[in-house]
Amino acid sequence: PVPKDMYGDRQNSLGRDYSQAAVREAHARALEGVDREKLTAGPIVGGKLRAGVDAQTVTNPFDRSQVLGHVSEATEADVDAAVEAAAKAQIHWDRQGGAKRAVVLRAMADALEAEMDRLVALLSREAGKTLNDGVAEVREAADFCRYYALLAERDFAAPETLKGPTGETNQLVLHGRGVFACISPWNFPLAIFTGQIAAALAAGNAVLAKPAEQTPLIAAEAVRLYHKAGLDADLLALVPGRGETVGAQLVSHAGIDGVAFTGGTDTAGAINRAIAARPGAIIPFIAETGGLNGMFIDTTALKEQVIDDVIASAFGSAGQRCSALRVLYVPKDSADALIEGLKGALAVQTVGDPSDPATDIGPVIDAESRQALEAHVERLTREAKVLARADLPAGADKGDLFAPTIAEIPTPDFLEKEVFGPILHVYRYDPSELKSVAGRLAARGYGLTLGVHSRIDAFAEEVIALVPAGNVYVNRSITGAVVGVQPFGGEGLSGTGPKAGGPNSLIRYASEKAISVNI
Ligand code: NAD
Ligand code: ALA
Repeated sequence: PVPKDMYGDRQNSLGRDYSQAAVREAHARALEGVDREKLTAGPIVGGKLRAGVDAQTVTNPFDRSQVLGHVSEATEADVDAAVEAAAKAQIHWDRQGGAKRAVVLRAMADALEAEMDRLVALLSREAGKTLNDGVAEVREAADFCRYYALLAERDFAAPETLKGPTGETNQLVLHGRGVFACISPWNFPLAIFTGQIAAALAAGNAVLAKPAEQTPLIAAEAVRLYHKAGLDADLLALVPGRGETVGAQLVSHAGIDGVAFTGGTDTAGAINRAIAARPGAIIPFIAETGGLNGMFIDTTALKEQVIDDVIASAFGSAGQRCSALRVLYVPKDSADALIEGLKGALAVQTVGDPSDPATDIGPVIDAESRQALEAHVERLTREAKVLARADLPAGADKGDLFAPTIAEIPTPDFLEKEVFGPILHVYRYDPSELKSVAGRLAARGYGLTLGVHSRIDAFAEEVIALVPAGNVYVNRSITGAVVGVQPFGGEGLSGTGPKAGGPNSLIRYASEKAISVNI
């Protein structure tokens, strides 16, 4: 039996010590390996790679001249075949119960750790992840698998007996819904991709997984690892392709019994409408989306700590985390000193090749994203005030490096929407206006992460009451939720829940059956 307190002796995946020469050499060898191979991704149905259509090259966002491999898009026939095979395989998988499913998920976690070097190398080349981010991502993927294995054992191994009248037995049984479509973004192309699948599988479902267009190679590796770890190949198919083609087909497919989506808020709206338009079907839609994340500082906050935490929250992972800090609210009296400190801290960030261990900030994901961020900086130049931009290395234009930026904004709700990249917006507020400033941020409707830096509890409590957020962080950075420690997910425009990596994560992936027997 799994104790209800799952925090007891549970152990998350461990990191790597890159101060060891042998560890650094293994990393260098893995990079060479990825550079030598030309990888192929495409639809994987029944464990077999299919031809697909419309093959595209996949290139390195730091250096677009480096071709990593090719990907072809799943056809409608591929999706139909995958759904049919998955629906058949799901029946046995569901009946097997949670304990047996946990064995496969733990084997997947072990496989991810065993392949750490190669996966980190691929994350760096395909998604522009720095070494630290790559390692953290592989660890998080393994953590999701082990954590959901525990939930499978806790909630899906045996029925729960409920007390009722004499002469009757009452049991509550959780079981899978059928075939889930798992649709994921490029910014956590391994952790979220693997985690959504692990949640759906743990609850007794089969999965068709659609990775983001930008990161199909790492997704194909994850699917191969799941199959190698002992998962029946029919239970997990990879259906790569564009959102508007393969994604749209998936969410409207009559054989899909639930959709788990992580990505932009607008995309979630489009999928919600497509699901609603499906004739004769009501299915769950789990959506984890974007945020307009703020951090509120008061005059009691420790300046050095604020600077470290703001730089990590706004510029770590090149600002390409849904949890990243977008708007820093600084009291007027301490604003000048804090802004000077932030400018100094930004100036010493190294922007460059993410595979170089010395790099702090790698490229943004693609040219479209870089151009949108540059257009935003133009707007900031016109309508606000750009305070600082980090230096880019020589040759930055061979890829999609973007100069991280700090800007001061004239109104507390200058941003209407999430700006997804390394741009920090600072607003100077008068403490007497805290309520209205926080209210204007809240009125945008998002609710993902929120930060507070203060040594006064009442200030933190007031901000937390004023600004909706699924994850609140006081006196620390606002990114890097840990599986089983900070269950992660938003409210309002930022997500439906349930949170990922928390004790309630699997509930919407499952159906509940109450069985009463008169004896
Ligand atoms: P996106 O919405 O553009 O794409 C996400 C996925 O949806 C991709 O696989 C895409 O192909 C697919 N898609 C697009 N249109 C579709 C459609 N009509 N039907 C079905 N599928 C469709 O997001 P992105 O640019 O890949 O990722 C960045 C976004 O993800 C940011 O907004 C970020 O905040 C968000 N995000 C949220 C979380 C979270 O946990 N809340 C985590 C990571 C990223
Ligand atoms: N779970 C990720 C974080 O907390 C997005 O940064």
